[in-house]
Amino acid sequence: MERSGLLKGKKGIIFGALNETSLAWAIAKAAHREGAEFALSNAPVAKRLGTLDALAQQVGSPVLWADATKNSDIEAVFNELKNLYGKIDFMVHGIGMGINVRKRRTYDQLNHDWYAKSLDISAISLHRIVQLAMQTESLNHGGSILTISYIGAQRSFSHYSEMGDAKALLESIVRTWGAKLGEYGIRVNAISQSPTRTTAGQGISGFDAMFEFGEKMSPLGNADADSCGDYAVTLLSDLTRMVTMQTLYHDGGFSSIGITDTMIEPIMKMADQMDAKNK
Ligand SMILES: NC(=O)c1ccc[n+]([C@@H]2O[C@H](COP(=O)([O-])OP(=O)(O)OC[C@H]3O[C@@H](n4cnc5c(N)ncnc54)[C@H](O)[C@@H]3O)[C@@H](O)[C@H]2O)c1
Repeated sequence: MERSGLLKGKKGIIFGALNETSLAWAIAKAAHREGAEFALSNAPVAKRLGTLDALAQQVGSPVLWADATKNSDIEAVFNELKNLYGKIDFMVHGIGMGINVRKRRTYDQLNHDWYAKSLDISAISLHRIVQLAMQTESLNHGGSILTISYIGAQRSFSHYSEMGDAKALLESIVRTWGAKLGEYGIRVNAISQSPTRTTAGQGISGFDAMFEFGEKMSPLGNADADSCGDYAVTLLSDLTRMVTMQTLYHDGGFSSIGITDTMIEPIMKMADQMDAKNK
């Protein structure tokens, strides 16, 4: 993709890049290409599990380690951001984890402590980050806040389980904050992304089936991480200054499809074979 300077002069923070498969990593690369300056943040445990320092070097960003479930950590991030940049123009929340999903606890057997933790990490952390950004007066008028969701917020996807609940809450937080922040000229949106082969994505049992299903049920195929990065920069830019409170589908058309030719043809063949057998 050619550099267009869409984010020249913008400053921000991107939460959630773990390794080069992360959606937040792709967004950071695209934001850097478009001229933004930003800090990167992740949970302290990601120092051991990921490769964020390599990204930080590539894009010339400071790394602010913070657990997004802890107010004190997030407040420290905003205080440090003030020292680095003054007020900022954008925040990207690319944080999510389903503890029951990871531990293969099905929806009818959820551990409720883990469930609460999953909602805290994957959804309430957005509320916390926005609240602390506002309390520390960290965001400029015209600012853009972006998170990443999945269509499991609207429809049930078998093994997606507690993460469907987390995404429904996340999208509601987007709308509720969006309504409140309009008076400050700040917008809040979610990208609803196709299944993508990342650490969080592949932690879901049945991910390969969801990925294949998405691929066959989307006229353009699944949207990959790099295209998510490109879409994200449009939402961080002034070109989308009047868009807020939205869940925006970045999914190759999946959300508007009933059934594709790719899917219907094998099913028609199967039906013909069954008819032939029954004759
Ligand atoms: N991969 C997909 O198929 C897909 C599809 C739609 C939406 N999403 C969403 O995109 C977002 C980013 O996930 P990803 O797929 O890039 O996977 P990822 O594993 O690369 O990113 C998830 C990030 O959340 C961070 N995180 C977890 N707990 C945290 C905490 N307590 N404090 C701070 N950070 C914490 C992790 O360290 C990691 O960097 C998630 O919200 C995910 O649900 C992913």
